[in-house]
Amino acid sequence: MTMKKAMLERHTVRKYIDRPLGADTVSQLGRRLDECNSRYGLAVRLMREDSSAFGAITKLFVAKGARNFFLLAGSPTPDLDERLGYCGADLMLFSQALGLNTWWVSGSFNRRAMTALADGDRVIGVIAVGYGASQGKPHRSRKAEDVSVYSGIMPPWFKSGVEAALMAPTSFNKQAFTIKGKDDKVLITYAHGIFSHIDLGIVKYHFELGAGKENFEWAEELAADW
Ligand SMILES: Cc1cc2nc3c(=O)[nH]c(=O)nc-3n(C[C@H](O)[C@H](O)[C@H](O)COP(=O)(O)O)c2cc1C
Repeated sequence: MTMKKAMLERHTVRKYIDRPLGADTVSQLGRRLDECNSRYGLAVRLMREDSSAFGAITKLFVAKGARNFFLLAGSPTPDLDERLGYCGADLMLFSQALGLNTWWVSGSFNRRAMTALADGDRVIGVIAVGYGASQGKPHRSRKAEDVSVYSGIMPPWFKSGVEAALMAPTSFNKQAFTIKGKDDKVLITYAHGIFSHIDLGIVKYHFELGAGKENFEWAEELAADW
C-alpha cells in the first residue's frame, strides 16, 4: 500500500486484537524507525508485548489490547515536538501501509513509566501500534476554505496538500492550523496550545505528502504582501 493510500485509510484505533507483530513487520518497522532517528536526531523506540504505556483504567476501558507502542522521545531541544510530530506521522502511515493500525497519545499515557524508560530523553507521548479490532472512522473535519488561502490561482498541488493536512490526526481533533500559499511558497501556522508543535509537525508531513515536496518550499515568515 502506498503512503498516500495509507493516509486515506488511517484513523485512530484504540482497541486491538490479540495478534503479535510478525518478525518481518518488526524488522520493517525497526528499519523505518532507525532512518527517522538518524535523519531527525531522535530516540524513538518500538516497544513490543508491553502495555506499560497505559494506566490500569485506560487499559480497562479505552486502550483494550494495546500491547505495542512507539515511545516518542529525544533529547530536549526547542524543536523536539515538531520533529517528533513529523517523524511520528511517518511511522503512523508506514505502519498503516503494513496493514497495522495506530493511535497517537500525548495526554492519556503513563508519563512517569515512559520517562523512566526513556533514559534521560524527553518523552512527548506514545503511538500505540498493532492489529486493530476495527479500522476506525474518519474524523469530523474543518473545510479547506476555512483553514487555507492561496494568493492568485490555486495550483492543484496546493489543493491536494490542504486536503492531506485535513486528514492528519491532531490533538483533540482541533485542526487549528492555517495554511497560506503564494507562488511556490507555503506558510503554515498553528494556534498556540499544549500540543501545537507536535500537531504542526504531523500536519506539515501530511501537507508534503499530498502536495509533493518538489512543488513548493516552506516559508518561515509572512511576506509583507501576503
Ligand atoms: C498530539 C496528539 C495527541 C493526542 N492525544 C490523545 C490522547 O491523549 N488521548 C486520546 O484518546 N487521543 C489522543 N489523540 C488522538 C486524537 O484525538 C485523534 O487523532 C483525533 O481525534 C483525530 O482522529 P483521527 O486520528 O482518527 O484522524 C492525540 C492526537 C494527537 C495528534
